[in-house]
Amino acid sequence: MRTPLIAGNWKMHKTLAEARELVAEIREGVAAISGVEILICPPVQLLFPMAKAVAGSAIMLGAQTAHEEPHGAFTGEVSVSMLKDAGCSHVIIGHSERRVHFGETGALLAKKVRAVTGAGLQVIYCLGETLEEREGGRMDEVVLRQLEEVVGPDLPAGRLVIAYEPIWAIGTGRTATPEQAQEVHALIRSKLGSIYGPALAEEIRILYGGSVKPANASELLARQDIDGALVGGACLVAGDFVAILSAAAETSSVVG
Ligand code: PGA
Repeated sequence: MRTPLIAGNWKMHKTLAEARELVAEIREGVAAISGVEILICPPVQLLFPMAKAVAGSAIMLGAQTAHEEPHGAFTGEVSVSMLKDAGCSHVIIGHSERRVHFGETGALLAKKVRAVTGAGLQVIYCLGETLEEREGGRMDEVVLRQLEEVVGPDLPAGRLVIAYEPIWAIGTGRTATPEQAQEVHALIRSKLGSIYGPALAEEIRILYGGSVKPANASELLARQDIDGALVGGACLVAGDFVAILSAAAETSSVVG
């Protein structure tokens, strides 16, 4: 059985004072929640203080991106070992905002995911189609290409989480329906099956991301192949994030 993972992608939000307040509220809210893995991914300058803020709780810490090299003359960049040093257990790689605004390509992302897993951390590899690609009937092709470009048998399945994030649903308030999301998740799992074999593919978590809110979390998470969520906007409000975590806990107790 796959334990649900709910990850909050803070993006470029929160000062130190705001972050401390948010995490204190989340800590309080999640004290009674079990059966769900909880991850927050703050901006990089907040990692050290947030590691302190989550210490002793079930909340795990992740980063939003990483450089592919272990060290060197790469002004402004941060390596995976530095993120590990700051207390990260997970790194998000390939978010569509990284692909679009920072020109990250499949070839580069393949290196980045290996840098993360090579350091013993979990990678959350994001993929998803644009509205134009979906409407043009190219959704399957795009999703499978993004998966094949990066995921191969050399990548340890036990350190891999996939996040399906249709670009048209990110920050738009327009969520994929549970049926639409399940369809793509099943496609991804079947491709993972051809890479790793069906038994290992069954173990890999596939998260959904794109306007996940307390109001739609339960019905998404109830689907067979939706094993958690990558949450943007709603993770910046403690009450909303905790409500999504509660929805995941309920689903996992029903299924498990
Ligand atoms: P959203 O963002 O929940 O605000 O749509 C999700 C994401 O970008 O990971």
